[in-house]
Order: sequence, then structure tokens, then C-alpha cells
Amino acid sequence: MTEPSLHAVSTAGAYDAVAVRYAALFHDYLDSLPLDRAVIAAFADSVRAAGGGTVADLGCGPGYVTAHLRGLGLDAFGVDLSPVMIGLAREAYPGLRFDVGSMDALHDVADGELDGILSWYSVIHTPPRDLPSYFDEFHRTLAPGGHLLLGFFESGGGPLDAFDHKVTTAYRWPIDDLAALAVTAGFTETARMLREPGPEERFRRGHLLMTRDGGRRDADEFPVPGPS
Ligand SMILES: C[S@@+](CC[C@H](N)C(=O)[O-])C[C@H]1O[C@@H](n2cnc3c(N)ncnc32)[C@H](O)[C@@H]1O
Repeated sequence: MTEPSLHAVSTAGAYDAVAVRYAALFHDYLDSLPLDRAVIAAFADSVRAAGGGTVADLGCGPGYVTAHLRGLGLDAFGVDLSPVMIGLAREAYPGLRFDVGSMDALHDVADGELDGILSWYSVIHTPPRDLPSYFDEFHRTLAPGGHLLLGFFESGGGPLDAFDHKVTTAYRWPIDDLAALAVTAGFTETARMLREPGPEERFRRGHLLMTRDGGRRDADEFPVPGPS
């Protein structure tokens, strides 16, 4: 078993510290976001249409999106770095499976075991230089033809940018750059959805629906933009 990175340890600590407040604040959050629900529903339909059902909600936080996926008929389980988040998720949704772990090292998940992966505002904290290895792990664990949905902060026409997220440093990605990085890891884009920030939100939201294909593209074709 590899040691967690310093970044993983500090992200877990930052979310442990706010987990109770976060869970209370976001418990019903999806109810107020019809476009976000629509893109998650399209993801769930795609997984089911392909005959699958096993979905990992990576960076699941307090588990309300995992429970939403279960409500859409998927056999969803959650993984998060933060033990406090996972404790709250287990308490709130005792019938569901939640594991402490890092989404770039899914040791309990066999190659091609998953029909879908949702990363809902969870790779936002990943240093851009580390993201290729995260996408490699998503590619390893998804079945060929499996579906990936990424939700993230979009840079709104500007470059990749770090910002002062309330919990810990996060990144805003140009949607084209994030899509290109996923393509490099062996995904094909199916659809994208951008929405402008709502009244309580600071940034444009990006959503990418991708499918896992067979091989891995030459990384030089799609270089990772800065910052490193
Ligand atoms: C902004 S919260 C999003 C939580 C949930 N997906 C939601 O939409 O409310 C980011 C979550 O990602 C988790 N996270 C960040 N990096 C992670 C990693 N490498 N592996 C697993 N979880 C991670 C954090 O602990 C945190 O719970």
C-alpha cells in the first residue's frame, strides 16, 4: 500500500474540519439545480442503457450525490479521502457503501469493474500535474464503453487558474483543456454542459460526459497547461 501524498493528507484534514457544516449545507443542494440534475440523469441513463449499474461516486463527500445516483437506479457506492465525510455518509445513508480512500488509488476495484464513474466537484482540488494519474486510474477501473461524468469549476474563457476555495485551494479549468486531458487518458467526449453561476455561486460550472475507449493517446498530443 502506497503512502498518501502530503496533498491528500492536507485535503482530507481540510474536509474533516468542515464536514459537519458541509453536510448540513449541501444535503438538499441538488434540489435547487435542475441543470445539474439533468446532466447526472443523462449519465445514469447512459450507464443503464449500456446494461450496467455499478458506479463509483469518487470524492463523494457526505454522500448525498451517491444516494441520488442510487435513486436513479444505479448500484452506486462512494469513496472519499475524508474519514469524517465518510462517517457522515454512512450515518445518513446506512444502506449504501462508503469507503475511505483516494480516487487515484482504488485498490479494492478491479480492472474494468465499474460501469460508471462520477467525479462531482472532487478533482477540483487535484494539482493539475497529478490529474493525468487520476484519469489513468479512472480508465483502469472503468469497463470499456463505461461512462465518466466530471463536474468542475470552469475558467470562463480564462486560463487554468488556482483560486481560494473556502475549504482548500481549488482549480478552475478551461473545459477544452480538461476534456483534452481526459482524451489523452483514453476517454472520448460524449457531451458537455456549461452553465453560468447562480446567485450564490462565483464561477461558471463545467460538466463533461465521457466514455472509456480502448487505448491511451500519445500524451504529447495534448500537453497539460500550467500552472504545474
Ligand atoms: C467540493 S467536495 C465535493 C463533495 C461531493 N462530491 C459534493 O458534490 O458535495 C470535494 C470532495 O472531494 C474529496 N476529495 C478530494 N480529493 C480526493 C481524492 N484524491 N480522493 C478522494 N476524495 C477526494 C474531498 O475530501 C471532498 O469531500
